[in-house]
Amino acid sequence: MANNNTALGAAKTGKKDEFYTQLSDIEKELVHYREYFRDKVIFCNCDDPYESNFFKYFALNFNALGLKKLIATCYDGSPIAQQELPLFEDENNEPKKKAYKVEISEVPDLDGNGSTDLVDVQLLLRSSEHNVKAELRGNGDFRSLECIELLKQADVVVTNPPFSLFREYIALLMKYNKQFIVIGNTNSLTYREIFPLIMGNKLRTGYTNFNVGMFFFIPDSYEQFHHYQGGRKVARVASSCWLTTLPVSKHNEEIICIKHYNEEEYPKYDNYDAIEVGNVNDIPCDYSGIMGVPLTYINKHNPEQFEILGATQRFCHDLVPDTRKYNDYWEVKQSGERTGSSGNKTNENANLLKNDGIHNYFTNKEGRQIQSAYQRVFIRNKKPQIS
Ligand SMILES: C[S@@+](CC[C@H](N)C(=O)[O-])C[C@H]1O[C@@H](n2cnc3c(N)ncnc32)[C@H](O)[C@@H]1O
Repeated sequence: MANNNTALGAAKTGKKDEFYTQLSDIEKELVHYREYFRDKVIFCNCDDPYESNFFKYFALNFNALGLKKLIATCYDGSPIAQQELPLFEDENNEPKKKAYKVEISEVPDLDGNGSTDLVDVQLLLRSSEHNVKAELRGNGDFRSLECIELLKQADVVVTNPPFSLFREYIALLMKYNKQFIVIGNTNSLTYREIFPLIMGNKLRTGYTNFNVGMFFFIPDSYEQFHHYQGGRKVARVASSCWLTTLPVSKHNEEIICIKHYNEEEYPKYDNYDAIEVGNVNDIPCDYSGIMGVPLTYINKHNPEQFEILGATQRFCHDLVPDTRKYNDYWEVKQSGERTGSSGNKTNENANLLKNDGIHNYFTNKEGRQIQSAYQRVFIRNKKPQIS
């Protein structure tokens, strides 16, 4: 059985996008947003209704959540599309992997069993003029004009989009000014399309614990997986996280800072005018300067308490070249002098405490040695307790 902690990397590089979210994970996260769904149009735009648990969640809870409308579109590139939920029996011998849209505007308890279930939805699609199942003209790509027309109708977009198109996906939702709740991964947090949104308090992590890993169903053809569940391959993605534009109450809570700054415990970097804080719990309460904290800080960020100023480059920035472009926080020598010639800093020496040649090296394509021990986010306390 293969270890799948690297599955996400494979998803990114090999365009393996078929990671199907489990209903339990969806329920755990979405229970917190009920008030934002009432009377709203929900759009799941990377979701084959036959197999998507996002669609299933909203269809089953349509009345309980008070939805105005649920729309889902299916991409015809999905290799295991239309095999799961028996919502659309293949009465017309329609070929598989067609791109569909489903629009649901009412879900009465048609089977009379007192609750709303998938049988009701199936009946509705056959009988109600308010509910539509129709083939799309194109391939169901979320970027296609017909899917964008549906996007325009939506109030909240909720899905797990393809990892390989994550940047484009988020950029599109932002362009159309949509609220969204999506599954992403911690690697994407420092993308130039994502990090400025977090810095600007337009995007934040969701409720589910950050970086603990989620398990996804994957197609049989994927080699790396963690275990079988009900005969299907399941992969663990250690770095998955939820990202949303909607309010998340934990980001209103202040991080409790009990430690006090001292030079020994919080040394300055060689190449940033900032102190190293290796653990979010150790952020000193009384430091007014700039601090480098681990990426996990983003999961606790309260914009009233701290300001995010930037981030270091990635460990291996040859592979992630764009991370150097958004960073407004200049790399400086400890004299305060800038090391770069523009705001797009870098001299390829990231946040090592000691640039002494002993610490971790990464050798880039040109054979040059690059030091960059940890990814760090730069923050400043908005109200340091200075006595
Ligand atoms: C990570 S999977 C998640 C599927 C589903 N949303 C879920 O959570 O179970 C992403 C899905 O997006 C589909 N997809 C890939 N490229 C797409 C595109 N350009 N437009 C729409 N969907 C796409 C993939 O086929 C895949 O089914």
